[in-house]
Amino acid sequence: MATTELVKGVRATRSTIALKLAMATSGIIFILFVLLHMYGNLKAFSGHDAYNTYAEHLRTLGTPMLPRSGALWVIRVVLILSLVVHVGSAVALWKRASAARSTKYQVKKNVASSLSSRTMRWGGVTLLLFVIWHLLEFTIGKINISGGATNDPYNLLVDSFSGTSWWMGVIYLIAMLCLGFHLHHGTFSACQTLGLTNSAASRARARIAGWVVAIVIAGGFSLVPLFTIFGVITK
Ligand code: HEM
Repeated sequence: MATTELVKGVRATRSTIALKLAMATSGIIFILFVLLHMYGNLKAFSGHDAYNTYAEHLRTLGTPMLPRSGALWVIRVVLILSLVVHVGSAVALWKRASAARSTKYQVKKNVASSLSSRTMRWGGVTLLLFVIWHLLEFTIGKINISGGATNDPYNLLVDSFSGTSWWMGVIYLIAMLCLGFHLHHGTFSACQTLGLTNSAASRARARIAGWVVAIVIAGGFSLVPLFTIFGVITK
């Protein structure tokens, strides 16, 4: 009986580790994507033509070996698979944690947890909602909330955050704050899962990596809506 319980325990631990590895791997794929996407967005500071040339390049990448938008579709498929793995593992780990603790704590103290670690779940859900809106606005639906044209990527971007649409820019800035928190703790967690936090020095390095990734990516992304709201990036 005791042996069966032990085997069950070992299996549960192994599959928890597998789920955490899946979260870390898909998370690293996202980090690479958002880093490149953030860098590409900064083209908005170079003006209309530079930005639109970059948007067009994304579609002609890999041609003539691949059809137009072929490389973009490869990236999209990898991102969709990563999203399924990331959200699926998060839900499975979430369920396991609640099953392991069927009675609630009388007093819930978050002794050694940071704000970013406590906001991983709901921050993640907020980011998912943001990405759904974001894709509807810029890619799938091409919605111009200012009522302008939708066939020009740069103008669509500027219309989305300027003039009477400034509030959408503010929503994007709030979403980038959520992204920063998520990346801060996510990077540390991924390092932990990959066994890179075994000493005090390596834990400190993982914490620094979390700050750097969060500030560079969320900070870099924030520049475009911020400078569009204040009229530096204009049509
Ligand atoms: C201030 C922040 C952001 C801005 C201004 C922004 C802007 C844009 C724009 C303009 C496009 C369309 C590009 C084109 O038509 O060539 C786009 C596409 C996209 N963005 Fe963002 N983005 C931001 C943040 C994010 C974040 C945080 C994520 C993911 C977590 C994300 C995921 C995507 C995806 C998946 C696409 C679709 C790419 C495709 O399949 O064509 N974006 N973004």
